[in-house]
Amino acid sequence: MNSPVIQDFSYDPFDPAVMADPLSYYRVLRDEHPVYYVPKWDVYALSRFADIWDVLARNDGTFVASEGTLPSSAVLGVHNTGPVSDPPLHPMPFHANFDSPLYEDVRRCTSGPLRPKPVTSLTDRIRRLANERLDELLPRGRFDLTQDYGGIVAATIVCELCGLPTELAADVLAAVNAGSQAQPGSGVEVANARPGYLDYLRPVVERRRAGTGDPVAIVDGLLNYRLPDGSGLSDVEAAVQMLGVFIGGTETVPKIVAHGLWELHRHRDQLAAVRADLDANVSVAREEMIRFCAPAQWFARTVRRPFTIHDTTMQPGQRLITLLGSAGRDGREYDDPDAFVWNRPIERLLAFGRGQHFCLGVHLARLEITIMVTEWLKRVPDFQVDPAAAERPPSSFQWGWSSIPVEV
Ligand code: HEM
Repeated sequence: MNSPVIQDFSYDPFDPAVMADPLSYYRVLRDEHPVYYVPKWDVYALSRFADIWDVLARNDGTFVASEGTLPSSAVLGVHNTGPVSDPPLHPMPFHANFDSPLYEDVRRCTSGPLRPKPVTSLTDRIRRLANERLDELLPRGRFDLTQDYGGIVAATIVCELCGLPTELAADVLAAVNAGSQAQPGSGVEVANARPGYLDYLRPVVERRRAGTGDPVAIVDGLLNYRLPDGSGLSDVEAAVQMLGVFIGGTETVPKIVAHGLWELHRHRDQLAAVRADLDANVSVAREEMIRFCAPAQWFARTVRRPFTIHDTTMQPGQRLITLLGSAGRDGREYDDPDAFVWNRPIERLLAFGRGQHFCLGVHLARLEITIMVTEWLKRVPDFQVDPAAAERPPSSFQWGWSSIPVEV
């Protein structure tokens, strides 16, 4: 194994200082250590856009997510001596931990309602929800832009996708927020069932297995699925496969909407330019909001076959983390990457990942952001952010503005 040169600099994804603000670390990594080895976790960190772009495009079994796409320190602290095989079929963990074709087969069960056409049919529903929130929030004068606006809208759509009553949206939002809080030194393990999450999802599976209640495409697809050995998924196993939609659908979009709107209001000239033609411009600004504000910092893979990059060879069983948060700020890909520029050219984006694990919710995410930003700009002529009260909690996973108090 090659040992990259480490001068005085050190990077550890679970270091509290990194979790509080990773951006300055990313700059050094990209410039000095494009393949950075962290011995404690037997992990290589990739930080340059082009490297991550190429690595994630490999779909030939060189990299697998057999230890999860977001392993905690407890997982990474155990070092492997060779390739890690796929988990046993039962009890089935989140399907991302399997390689092809099982991974794709289970993913397909949950993907139907997230395809472009069904997502487009949600347009009026999302617009109505956004306006209902604004009807309630604007008279209040002061509220949390992240949680009270985008948070509730996104969680309501997740409830509808998962067959949950929409009255539970605020509870679902609070549960996912709490579950994603990372502890300094250890990170989060969101792919495994958090007891609270399954308490929401398992009853829906039980209900559909009993043949009662309205159809729920995601649940019904999972219940009809048969594994290669002919077995089906238990109630808990099916509920676990819904966690990606439950978590991914709830927590990312609200942070991007709120932070993106904050950036526009910080740059009054840009705000005026976007306002000049909302229908044409919000979808352009949305891409910059995603590049600049997307909170997910990295995802992991376990190496299954030797792989060499920048003269460093990774061995089977070692891990790779793709620093998507760094890729979005790479000056080799974007001019002046730390500036928010609503209409900058964005030819390539890694915020949704790439390749095998490419975000399943990409169409829904783009639609929700477009609608929520548009409706806000239509109805709110001006607002003030209370920056001292805004919160961006330290995290190895979701480093985003989870609270942005505003006054309208
Ligand atoms: C702008 C908002 C969003 C961003 C930036 C985002 C980002 C990502 C990224 C980077 C991945 C890949 C993880 C990896 O490579 O291991 C991913 C996966 C995923 N996302 Fe999203 N996401 C967003 C919104 C959503 C929404 C709205 C949903 C669902 C309603 C969703 C559901 C999922 C699921 C299920 C996966 C797992 C895919 C798999 O491994 O099969 N995401 N997301």
